[in-house]
Amino acid sequence: NWTMDKFVDQEIERIRALVGPKGQVIGAVSGGVDSTVAAKLMQEAIGDRFHAVLVDNGLLRLDEAKIVKETLGKQLGVNLTVIDASERFLAKLKGVVDDPERKRKIIGNLFIEIFQEKARELADAAKGSAKEGEIEWLLQGTLYPDVIESISFKGPSATIKTHHNVGGLLEGMHLKLIEPLRELFKDEVRELGTTLGIPDELVWRHPFPGPGLGIRVLGEVTPEQLRILRHADSIFIEEIRKAGLYRKISQALVGLLPVRAVGVMGDKRVHDQVVALRAVVTTDFMTATAFEFEPSFLRTVSSRIVNEVDGVCRVFQDITSKPPGTIEFE
Ligand code: XMP
Repeated sequence: NWTMDKFVDQEIERIRALVGPKGQVIGAVSGGVDSTVAAKLMQEAIGDRFHAVLVDNGLLRLDEAKIVKETLGKQLGVNLTVIDASERFLAKLKGVVDDPERKRKIIGNLFIEIFQEKARELADAAKGSAKEGEIEWLLQGTLYPDVIESISFKGPSATIKTHHNVGGLLEGMHLKLIEPLRELFKDEVRELGTTLGIPDELVWRHPFPGPGLGIRVLGEVTPEQLRILRHADSIFIEEIRKAGLYRKISQALVGLLPVRAVGVMGDKRVHDQVVALRAVVTTDFMTATAFEFEPSFLRTVSSRIVNEVDGVCRVFQDITSKPPGTIEFE
């Protein structure tokens, strides 16, 4: 009979046999559940011959790169390199105002470019040292539903949204793909994470999209807009955790709307920005409904955001279902 402990042992053996005694593996991590579990599994199997790379695209949440460094690198012992590429991303996003799909493409393509640069650099370094093997493998945290989706997405729906979880990273690199999670569903990945000693907070983390806050700032992405959104988001999530609601909600996020409204702060009239809170409940993220908060919770969040976040004078709540809405704002 199948148990998670047996699965872990088998996978570790399988990875070792596949990669060989000297082979090296590279993989991108995001701080999300899937890439973290895949990375920890690799670390258990081949130690520092697995190279994890976090590309900080400048679109992460408050302190996120730091937290990933701490948990994945220090706590879980994964061989991690963090690349701060914020400026490159922000430079490319400058002036992109009204085209969400273009934002996604810019962010996705630059991510691949930067990841490949790093992969080549690590590969060259590995070649130079006599005792190590070459980087031949690319780790991807693909799950079973992604496998299905990537097959069915070959149809007309392929243009609905450009996901970069499957494929894409391999061009010109001659790396072989290693996908230890490709037979698992999300709940099994969480169980695997717990078995591997990954902290609960990470195992139960809400999903966060690759394009990050870039698709939650409606309109042009600037450092100032990101500052506002990061701060508002951290307050919303902090209050959700404090109220014990985090695990009841599938995904919670804040959007920064491209409009201004009038408000009174102290004895002054202001003309400031507007944020929208969104929290949804879903099992498969294909359909979703808005989570129903207590009015007092919403009042607390609203007054904290307006009082603490410079530049925001109104808080709205998005109660749209998916469909017709999407979970993200862009
Ligand atoms: P939507 O907005 O399409 O989101 O209802 C469904 C789920 O997918 C996530 N999402 C993405 N994840 N790259 C990702 O890695 C993306 O481009 C992307 N777009 C949406 C979203 O956060 C939600 O969990």
